Amino acid sequence: MNKPVLIGPFQPLRAELSVPADKSISHRVALASLLSQSPVTVTNYLTAEDTLATLDAIKAFDARVAPTRNSVRITGVGLHCAPEPKNVIDARNSGTLARIILGIAAGFGRFSCFTGDASLRERPMGRVVEPLRRMGAEIRGVTGGERLPMVVLGNGGGLRSSETVLPVASAQVKSCLLFAGLFADGPVMVTEPGRSRDHTERLLKACGVEVTIEDAYSSSRLVTIEPPGVLQIPGEIEVPGDFSSAAFWITAALVVPGSEVRIRKVGLNPTRTRFLDILSRMGAEVEMRSVVEDVIGEPVGELVVRHSHLRATEIGPDDVPSAVDELPLLALLGAFAEGETLVWGARELRVKETDRIKSVCEEFRQLGVDIEERPDGFAVLGDPKGGIRGGRASSRGDHRIGMGLAIAGLASEGGVEVENLEAAAVSYPRFLWDLERISGRSDRR
Ligand code: S3P
Repeated sequence: MNKPVLIGPFQPLRAELSVPADKSISHRVALASLLSQSPVTVTNYLTAEDTLATLDAIKAFDARVAPTRNSVRITGVGLHCAPEPKNVIDARNSGTLARIILGIAAGFGRFSCFTGDASLRERPMGRVVEPLRRMGAEIRGVTGGERLPMVVLGNGGGLRSSETVLPVASAQVKSCLLFAGLFADGPVMVTEPGRSRDHTERLLKACGVEVTIEDAYSSSRLVTIEPPGVLQIPGEIEVPGDFSSAAFWITAALVVPGSEVRIRKVGLNPTRTRFLDILSRMGAEVEMRSVVEDVIGEPVGELVVRHSHLRATEIGPDDVPSAVDELPLLALLGAFAEGETLVWGARELRVKETDRIKSVCEEFRQLGVDIEERPDGFAVLGDPKGGIRGGRASSRGDHRIGMGLAIAGLASEGGVEVENLEAAAVSYPRFLWDLERISGRSDRR
């Protein structure tokens, strides 16, 4: 582990920047390329720990990955010609990779073994294993298939048409089943009780797959995929900036007085931007500009954020699926908002890279934030003038917790010393460099 990094407090942030490429879209583009009949050149693919693990995983199934200066050319194997991987596939810290690749491996039906790092080996996998088994996959794993390591048996592949009703809205689980659906003998239907991110649906449509999305009961949605025979990915794809990475700078600009930050070419898919709706309820000044749709159906645009006087709000189950990765930042925003900010119905946070409810409450309390842990969320009592005292805190090896604590440092009275901030490399390797540049602390290039 590297030395702790001391951050802030800082002068107003005045910057124009672009954030690293979207992690969710990068994973999906690489995985769809593996299954495509034709090659694709991907510009701005995210070169971070999680998405590099995905490139290694597709190489294990014989995809050719040729990096050039700012792009990567991927030549896949199609839906039916994957070989048996010669080694264990390590998804490292990535829940998205682990879950989606299991669906693909089940479709290939080649004997393949999967593992992950200590955090990923604790995360629930039964939520994908069980529906895949109902589609005909043969999967064995630790605790009956609830945890990695895990093997998909070589049964020759091909899956059955299926209908699954997910107990929680999870884009990873939905995407696993939609990718598996590419190999099915009939339509695959997935109902989710909320709006989780729909990058898979958009990308598969752009690859010529018939995907339909219908409103089901209350706020749930039914996604149906018709197995296509072949997958044809667009020849050139540019991955937009990651809204979840942008969320750190949005938060920083809102809480550091006098700040104005402009973020270019960021993904603004409405199933990702519920955080902006929450912020607008809090009275935040965030402007969205020049939004256009790209070749894989993703809205991309620019955000301008100014320091704002915030008031507390309530974040409930309807908000959670489309803001799930931004919720830890509510601990920080809540500390600067007038009144009590309440996050509830967010039990899913307990099964992320760390138990994010526990991590956020324990770490922000150390910095002087009045925050209370609840079984399915947290409550923060804020004060626009009080904010955050500062002190020492740890990322606990969780990228988003580490970056959130660093942003807290920018807005604190005495600075925050963040242990294990190198965890940011999972999604945002140049985080510290950007932080130094934006805050004017360094002219390092
Ligand atoms: C992701 C989905 C989200 C999110 C994760 C990335 C994805 O999880 O937390 O960081 O790329 O599908 P859910 O499965 O809870 O939606």
